[in-house]
Amino acid sequence: MRKPLIAGNWKMHFTVPEGLEYALQLRRDLEPYSAVVDAVILPPAVMLWEIANALRGCAIEVGAQNAGWEDQGPFTGEISPKMLAGWCHYLLIGHSERRQLFNETDEELNRKLHAGLRHRLKVILAVGETLEEYEAGRTAEVITRQLNAAVYGVELRQATELSVAYEPVWAIGTGKAATPQYANETMGLIRRLLESPFGALASEIRILYGGSVTPANARSLMEQPEIDGGLVGGASLKAADFTGSSRRRLRCCSRRECERTRAGTRSRDHRRLGLPSGAGGQRDRRCQETELGRALGAMAAHHPGRGRRARRSTGGSAGELRGWPPQYRRRADRLPGPDPDQPRDSRRKLQAEPGFAAGHD
Ligand code: 13P
Repeated sequence: MRKPLIAGNWKMHFTVPEGLEYALQLRRDLEPYSAVVDAVILPPAVMLWEIANALRGCAIEVGAQNAGWEDQGPFTGEISPKMLAGWCHYLLIGHSERRQLFNETDEELNRKLHAGLRHRLKVILAVGETLEEYEAGRTAEVITRQLNAAVYGVELRQATELSVAYEPVWAIGTGKAATPQYANETMGLIRRLLESPFGALASEIRILYGGSVTPANARSLMEQPEIDGGLVGGASLKAADFTGSSRRRLRCCSRRECERTRAGTRSRDHRRLGLPSGAGGQRDRRCQETELGRALGAMAAHHPGRGRRARRSTGGSAGELRGWPPQYRRRADRLPGPDPDQPRDSRRKLQAEPGFAAGHD
């Protein structure tokens, strides 16, 4: 079954110290959900390595917002999937901001996808139609072109590390999310398109919704059968929105224990990272519970059987984690590595999908 995935795309926000501080807060707040939801944050490249180190040993994974397709060479300003391999778990490609502002083409994204998978990164491929395309009823056509072009030539065994994010461009940063029904139907189309190259494996590929996900609408979106999680932009920048740290709800500890544990964790983290011990403020000492937190907690209940998919760690073998400094290697040795030849329990028959109706709201 598909375990839900929540990804926070930080885009171009936070300085390095701010990002580190925030990542530590997320580590405390998101861990209670790790049994039912995979969580990944996508910080800017400049702080990725530091944050990966700060989150080592915890269930939250990190990803890059972009990378090139070559391993190395004269590509000023670019980072390569090879540089990320072994310590960075995810790679986001095809975000509409990359497609529109940086003129990334379908062909380039196909190369990036191959390069990311070759280096055993878990790639999140973003697709989505613009407002103009939506209003012209061209959603299905655009999604079909973007998806087919990006996955061209990807082998079945590589596709196990692929996720797709459906992000209608008109919903990004506008406060106007797609309706759950519309998102679900479009994502049903995406799954059917994935069946063509990947057969039954398509039912294992996670498809996320992105575009103005907020605490208020998260639950109704996540309840949809085709929506396996969210790619969250603006709301991922505030801990209370992104995590909804409902420790009290999960009854993991009493309020007093929670405060003591957090304070201890924070001072250890701060000493290690050289941050002032008071950083972070008092606000995150409180046990908070938000709508998004409830949505995350409710996901498993609304999708019986979800949450069983084992977490897979990219580049988990000790050899592949050679990028890690020596003090981290001991943990790296213990990480389970992905086995592309491992038989999957997913080769079951596909069920008939509901019909797709494009262009409605
Ligand atoms: P918002 O959640 O701010 O609309 O952004 C969505 C997005 O672009 C995530 O990648």
